[in-house]
Amino acid sequence: MMTFGYRPELSEGAVKPPVFLTSTFVFRTAEEGKEYFSYAYGLAERAPDRPMGLIYSRLNNPDLDILEHRMNLWDEAEASAAFASGMAAISTSMLALVPVGHAIVFSRPVYGGTDYLLEHLLPELGIPTREVAAGAEPGEFGRVCDELEAAGTPCRLVFLETPANPTMVLTDIQGVSRVAHEHGALCAVDNTLLGPLYQQPLANDADLVLYSATKYLGGHSDLVAGVALGSEELIERIKLYRTILGSMLDPHSAWLLLRSLETAKLRMTCACKNAERIARWLSAHPAVARVNFPSLLRSGRQKEIYDAQCTGPGALISFELHDAGERQAFRFLNSVRLIKLAVSLGGTESLVEHPATMTHADVPPDEQLAIGITPGLVRLSVGIEHPDDLIADLDQALALVSTEVLQEPLARV
Ligand SMILES: Cc1ncc(COP(=O)(O)O)c(C=O)c1O
Repeated sequence: MMTFGYRPELSEGAVKPPVFLTSTFVFRTAEEGKEYFSYAYGLAERAPDRPMGLIYSRLNNPDLDILEHRMNLWDEAEASAAFASGMAAISTSMLALVPVGHAIVFSRPVYGGTDYLLEHLLPELGIPTREVAAGAEPGEFGRVCDELEAAGTPCRLVFLETPANPTMVLTDIQGVSRVAHEHGALCAVDNTLLGPLYQQPLANDADLVLYSATKYLGGHSDLVAGVALGSEELIERIKLYRTILGSMLDPHSAWLLLRSLETAKLRMTCACKNAERIARWLSAHPAVARVNFPSLLRSGRQKEIYDAQCTGPGALISFELHDAGERQAFRFLNSVRLIKLAVSLGGTESLVEHPATMTHADVPPDEQLAIGITPGLVRLSVGIEHPDDLIADLDQALALVSTEVLQEPLARV
């Protein structure tokens, strides 16, 4: 993550890659321009000794190229494509891989924006979608694929978000990938919550990995970006859509991400250690009814999936306050002092939010309840602060909520 993909001799010996803030690139000759376009648009086969050639920053740019080469390492992917946001990576990939009249099957819950895309925008464009509960057995995904096939809209893509945001429910990547392949579909996994450090979907037979790089990969809450990784063939198709839709990442954000990748392991390791301690502390707190965090799993199918496909729990926790509704949850959120009240996750600073009215506000209330997003659920993204400080902050905020619950048991929403 330090230097891979960057050659200082191409940039005046600079130790760090410069930011190539340019929209377009000079061709030495018209013949060279013709040649580069023929490769970029797939009109000619590129010989191994010929460069891809820089053309225009919507197609390629040195910062993007370096970033994409470096990103390939962790997930051991053949190729990757960087996008303007996680949603740009997800939507562009889906449009590139699923023709109109073919369907997408997805685990639910997923991040609210992805949910809206799957529930509303793609069906409006003629791509039907069907949900399966996160954590369901692979056979259930197969059953839905069979139904879609019988209805004349075969499934082309099974999309998993595991762990699911915000309930942290895990889905079996290897089992679902096998079922997807048996049905002639691809399997894509949004790996944002665990990142390449703690889960590697391609090694578990998935075809495509998607990241909101805004989160742990960027890690400082100062950029918005996304990445898709997979085989050369899939990424080439996705890049064609990226070029035409214009959903690529800009050079400055690519450069920021290169800087961030150098510390991704340090940051994630520290945040994960903090989160493990906080999750244990929360689960012993009298005001907390339930804590969703993978390393708290003790037995059962979820624990089996965790052991089989994850090497760590990450640093996102969701928890439910005892007997609480929106009002108590809001009281808690309004009471934290060190932890910031903001959506997003994966930054160095800890953030809390209320999924039912914020990140997942687009999911209708009855559907929220069915997928485990209750009014008393809060989501905590644990950062790299000192864990004692975080626990002290949570403790004082929970004390205020507990007092209110005891004093006003009938006023709960
Ligand atoms: C799991 C997951 N996937 C995708 C996204 C979308 O990413 P972005 O905000 O970078 O578009 C988010 C955003 O919160 C997310 O949590």
